[in-house]
Amino acid sequence: MRIYRTKDYDAMSQKAAEILAAQVTLKPDCVLGLATGSTPIGTYRKLIEWYEAGILDFSRVHTVNLDEYMGLPGTHDQSYRYFMQHNLFDHINIPRESTNVPDGTAADAQAECERYERVIAGLGRVSIQVLGMGHNGHIGFNEPADHFPLDTHPVDLTDTTINANARFFASRDEVPRRAITMGIRTILRARRILVVVSGEDKAEIVRKAFTGPVTPQVPASVLQLHPNVTLVGDEAALSKL
Ligand code: F6R
Repeated sequence: MRIYRTKDYDAMSQKAAEILAAQVTLKPDCVLGLATGSTPIGTYRKLIEWYEAGILDFSRVHTVNLDEYMGLPGTHDQSYRYFMQHNLFDHINIPRESTNVPDGTAADAQAECERYERVIAGLGRVSIQVLGMGHNGHIGFNEPADHFPLDTHPVDLTDTTINANARFFASRDEVPRRAITMGIRTILRARRILVVVSGEDKAEIVRKAFTGPVTPQVPASVLQLHPNVTLVGDEAALSKL
C-alpha cells in the first residue's frame, strides 16, 4: 500500500486529484470509480479547476459511482446523482451517458443491481476506484456485518445512518430507508483503489482498517487484500497509523 500523508484537507485534495488526473492523462478512455460524501469534494473541485485550465479532458472517460439512495430521483438534492452532477459532472466535459450511478427509482431493486453489475462489467475493469470511509469502516453502503456482501445489492439503512442523515432532509420521515451499493467484490475488482480520509475523527478507524484484522466488522479492512491501494490522508486522519 502506498500512503501519502498531507498537512491538511486542501493538500489531501490536491494529492488525490493529481492521482486521478494522472490516470485520465495516461489513459483518456479510463473508467473512474467515484464516491460521494464530504471527503472527495475538494478533489473534484481541483479536477474542475484543471479542466477549466485546459489541462484535463474528460470527453472519453466513463464513471461508475459506488451507491445511491432508493426512492430519490436524480433531481432530488440529496440523491447521489444530484451530488455528482453538482460537484463534478456539470462542470467538466464528460458526456452524461458516460456517467453511471445506480437508479434509485427503479421499481425492482434487485434487477437494478444486476443491471448495474452488467454496466460495470461492460466497461471492463475500473481503472481507479475512489473510496471514502465511514466512522464504522463502511465503504459504499457496505456496513459492518458478519460477512462481506459480494455484488451490487440493496441495503436497509441502519437507524444510526438514518438519524445521521436526517439533518439533510426536512424531517426524519423523508430520509430514505434503503440504498443500492456496489458490493465488496465489485469494489475489489478495480485495478487500483484510492482511499481519501481527512480529520482526526477518522484516525481510529483508519488504524483499525489498515493495521487490524481483516474482518467484515470493519468492511474497509478488506482493502488490505487488494494489491494496489493508495491511501491519501491528512496528518489528523493518519495520526494513529
Ligand atoms: C459515498 C459513500 C460513503 C462515504 C463515507 C465517508 O459514496 O459510499 O461510504 O464515502 O460515508 O463519507 P465522508 O466523506 O462524508 O466522511
